[in-house]
Amino acid sequence: MPTVSERVVLLPGDGIGPEVAEQARLALEVLAPEVALDERLIGAAAIRATGSPLPQETIDACLSAVAVLKGPVGDPEFEAAEVRPEQGLLALRAALDTYANLRPAVLGEVDVLIVRELVGGLYFGARGVRDDGTVFDTCEYHPRQVERLARWGFRLAESRRGLLTSVDKANVLETSRMWRRVVDEIAPEFPEVQVEHMLVDNAAMQLATTPQQFDVIVTENMFGDILSDLAAAVTGGLGMAPSASLSDGGPGLFEPVHGSAPDIAGRGVANPVAMLRSTALLLEHGLARTEEAEALNRAIEAAIVSSPTIDLGGTASTSDFGAAVREQLAVDGVASSSYGGS
Ligand code: NAD
Ligand code: IPM
Ligand code: MN
Repeated sequence: MPTVSERVVLLPGDGIGPEVAEQARLALEVLAPEVALDERLIGAAAIRATGSPLPQETIDACLSAVAVLKGPVGDPEFEAAEVRPEQGLLALRAALDTYANLRPAVLGEVDVLIVRELVGGLYFGARGVRDDGTVFDTCEYHPRQVERLARWGFRLAESRRGLLTSVDKANVLETSRMWRRVVDEIAPEFPEVQVEHMLVDNAAMQLATTPQQFDVIVTENMFGDILSDLAAAVTGGLGMAPSASLSDGGPGLFEPVHGSAPDIAGRGVANPVAMLRSTALLLEHGLARTEEAEALNRAIEAAIVSSPTIDLGGTASTSDFGAAVREQLAVDGVASSSYGGS
């Protein structure tokens, strides 16, 4: 039996999820052959098999693993259903308390890291229907939730170019005014970091027009959801954007920014870069294997040039791309040098 520290849970998910997850599995088998991949159900696949989008077995397996690698969830069949695939994802993030969601977007002179609060705000506030038929969702934050997320932003900015942009809607929202106050209160602890506040509508415009101005962005859950798709779009597309969701000491959750892409699912043409880059983030943050993470990122870069997928203007299939990554890893000799060729 592998020990806990050697077990990674793999959640393939729905739509293109299993297609891109397969390439991540094959890459991990080369880069970290001693790590046991424990495949479990989430999302629509889990609803069909068990009635629940996040079966208790999946939660237990994730809580006791060293890290979780997840494909996207979501299926048009359940869009209007009472029990939906996305509920499984939100429940998993909450169960793992992975509040710090790192979404890097890098291309050329653009290098922005969005740090999205992931277990609070509009996604987790009170919701319901009033007697008169009004439907409501509420954005709620405790200052402690903002503080722990902001500290991630400051620490990351300190280790990078030293600029932290806190994005909010303080001209309208109470939660945003508290957010600003908390960020300003922490700022003196990080004298090397320059802090600026930006309203979210302007931030969207600035990201679209001059994304190179940003270093680290910290923001509320839903603002971060929307801005990270935009950041992906200006740095190569949704097929390229990975994420790492981290907690205080528990297993991290690594998944692409993109969804299950029902419009292209089942055809073997999805771009696996976002999933493979998420695997590199897992190697770095989840398994502390920095060398293997760097090797995987180098191999992905090479494959983007040699075997681009359709969304990148090429003709490679999902599995062609994965094969090109593994060929490059073999050329690089990383797997054999680190593990004695075993
Ligand atoms: P989407 O991200 O699935 O797709 C948006 C567009 O980008 C589509 O045209 C799609 O074909 C394209 N695309 C996305 N990933 C791609 C890839 N790897 N390669 C090539 N093209 C890619 O967004 P959507 O259509 O709004 O959502 C579909 C489903 O995914 C919904 O059920 C949604 O809830 C779910 N979703 C899940 C996650 C997650 O699990 N983390 C994230 C986002 C959306
Ligand atoms: C993401 C997705 C999820 C989110 C959905 C599927 C719940 O869009 O990871 O960006 O909004 O967080
Ligand atoms: Mn999203």
